[in-house]
Amino acid sequence: MSAPAPISPARVDLLPDGTPCAPDYGDVYHTAAGAFAQARHVFLGGNGLPGRWQGRERFVILETGFGLGNNFLATWAAWREDPRRCERLVFISLEKHPLRREDLARAHRASEEPALAAELLAQWPPLTPDLHALDFEGGRVQLLLVFGDALQTLPALQAEADALYLDGFAPARNAELWSAELFRRLARLIAPGATAATWSAARTVRDGLASIGFAVERTPGVGGKRDITVARHAPRFVPPRPAAWRPPHAGPRQALVIGAGLAGAAAAHGLLRQGWQVEVIDRQATPAAETSGNPGGLMHGIFNAPDSLHARWFRAAALRTARLAAPALASGRVAGRLDGFLRLEPRLDEARACAQLAAVGLPADWIAWQDAEAASAFSGLTGDAPCGGWQFGQGGWLSPPDWSRHLLQGATFRGGLAVQHLRRDNGLWQALDADGRVLAAAPVLVVAAALGSPALLQDRARLPLAPVRGQTTVLPADWPGLRVLPSRLRPLSGQGYALALPDGRILAGATTQHDDADREVRAADHRHNLQRAQRLGLVEAGAALASLTDLEALDGRVGWRAVTPDRLPLAGPPVDEAALAAAATGRQRLDALRLRPRLHDAQGGLYLLAGLGSRGLASAALAGEVLASWITGAPCPVAADLRDAIDPARQSSERSPGRSSVSPSTERS
Ligand SMILES: Cc1cc2nc3c(=O)[nH]c(=O)nc-3n(C[C@H](O)[C@H](O)[C@H](O)COP(=O)(O)OP(=O)(O)OC[C@H]3O[C@@H](n4cnc5c(N)ncnc54)[C@H](O)[C@@H]3O)c2cc1C
Ligand SMILES: C[S@@+](CC[C@H](N)C(=O)[O-])C[C@H]1O[C@@H](n2cnc3c(N)ncnc32)[C@H](O)[C@@H]1O
Repeated sequence: MSAPAPISPARVDLLPDGTPCAPDYGDVYHTAAGAFAQARHVFLGGNGLPGRWQGRERFVILETGFGLGNNFLATWAAWREDPRRCERLVFISLEKHPLRREDLARAHRASEEPALAAELLAQWPPLTPDLHALDFEGGRVQLLLVFGDALQTLPALQAEADALYLDGFAPARNAELWSAELFRRLARLIAPGATAATWSAARTVRDGLASIGFAVERTPGVGGKRDITVARHAPRFVPPRPAAWRPPHAGPRQALVIGAGLAGAAAAHGLLRQGWQVEVIDRQATPAAETSGNPGGLMHGIFNAPDSLHARWFRAAALRTARLAAPALASGRVAGRLDGFLRLEPRLDEARACAQLAAVGLPADWIAWQDAEAASAFSGLTGDAPCGGWQFGQGGWLSPPDWSRHLLQGATFRGGLAVQHLRRDNGLWQALDADGRVLAAAPVLVVAAALGSPALLQDRARLPLAPVRGQTTVLPADWPGLRVLPSRLRPLSGQGYALALPDGRILAGATTQHDDADREVRAADHRHNLQRAQRLGLVEAGAALASLTDLEALDGRVGWRAVTPDRLPLAGPPVDEAALAAAATGRQRLDALRLRPRLHDAQGGLYLLAGLGSRGLASAALAGEVLASWITGAPCPVAADLRDAIDPARQSSERSPGRSSVSPSTERS
């Protein structure tokens, strides 16, 4: 998918009888029978629901046109009421013109399902051109909102839909949403045995469905509609799966994860959400005891103009993390705050910043420019901020150990187990210690051991992970020369970064050192961090010039980031280097990443989540969910190009090994 077009929100009017309509399309959002009556009769009834989802592990619905979300609410309500409901319901809905939150609230003021509508509103995302996963019922009902023109977004989806809800405006007024091309693009996403339904009985609609293998019928309508269309997928010919297709795991839903830092915790979380049993082991006694052990770290997206792959990944990842973390932050289970973060930009002025923002077209509740004065007020500095910067609405900081433990909830953790070798035996992956004892085993294995991962894969997969040392500095709340009231400090960054811990101390970071294995906290590194804090406007010049002896008294922590050349994570099955080299000399196609041979192909069940670099807090949770979709076949929560951007295979190429297709980010934490 090329850089997506900015989202233009819906304009919604109300007709005199209260029916919502879209003046830009000259059509109503639902028939006079009412949204819920239409949803139940046409979309649920027309697709044989709830009956067809009963007893299923997962059922996937794909809707064209989310509109006000009434079909979703009616479907969710039917799922709640059905004692034989499927374990997981995924409702994917495509929407070119999503409603602004205030318009959605207005549209649901007299909802038939006020409690469900309120939950939808509470999670309504900023209108960015991304996929937005919203969880309900503890994640058992997931709404995957796909903002953008369906013709552009359909090719970016990876899912198999069991039921189609075709709900555009009238074909005469909204032709592209019923076009032959749209049906062609839907065809790739249809699961065996799928059904479809729509309120329209127009010829083009019936022909469109027939063209992609549906047997089409007209049945009686509702609310003044004589006929509606229902259909069952019954193709005369089923083409073979593409060569790159890897079937999801079919055996017992059990996984072993090696590593209990952010990466391992996120891999566990992704699988637990899909109903898996997960055991996580680590050489340390407790989770998050190595690099993920800092008491605080920044969590935010990034912005580039034009909208780059990088910016899109970190935007999607930060939005997902903010949504997942909100309840844990509110309950105090995870320390942190995600109510705004400021990134100072000394090289940008307001005019250029606003021009960049306008070119990309992102909403102000995701990102906005603040001049120096506003930046200072926002971040709680007592003096002037040195320059203006970007304010990220959902950014902030989290405690990595708390966040790791939160993501691990529901998994079995066993510490003090150092894995030396991996072995596949009798359909199980075994983790063995240095004496060859089996520590743990499962049919699916996720290696999430950061810089320890290459050794576990024994160079069968060349992982381009570089160790980059970093040291943080923790300043007492009464450190002389502080230009901020710690209780008022919102996290901010520039070249360095700073955030206030719950006890009032300020964490400033962080150094970036290559080829440096020193485990000791160094006074010289504290000075470096203080100099950066000074440039953020956080401390007086004198504070940064404190003697090294004074600085030795400061707390800090040393860790090593596992950094990839393109600064994006590695999530998926690792490449089998030997098989790749052999294939490269033959005639096998290797251009698409999916075609490259994986270690998983030979033995099954082997996956990787690593390379979180300087941004593990933002990346981990979404990377874990993408990994879980590789493993389980659940709909992928990101667009195909973002999945490719974090696929370990991107780092290998049949022509020039090690070349990366993604340019590195300039920002570091
Ligand atoms: C100074 C510093 C500041 C940072 N600041 C930020 C920030 O502000 N925001 C942010 O998002 N990120 C920040 N980061 C990066 C962030 O900490 C990392 O991205 C993240 O912690 C990586 O998580 P991980 O799970 O991949 O690695 P780790 O936390 O290192 O976890 C890997 C785990 O694997 C285990 N393991 C390894 N080998 C084996 C084996 N053979 N057997 C058993 N267990 C094994 C280890 O014990 C470890 O627990 C910072 C990093 C540093 C160093
Ligand atoms: C009839 S309404 C959908 C009503 C909705 N299903 C509900 O339950 O409230 C049609 C929707 O299709 C959307 N739409 C129109 N053209 C589109 C396109 N090309 N891609 C995605 N959505 C589109 C409109 O913005 C509108 O919200």
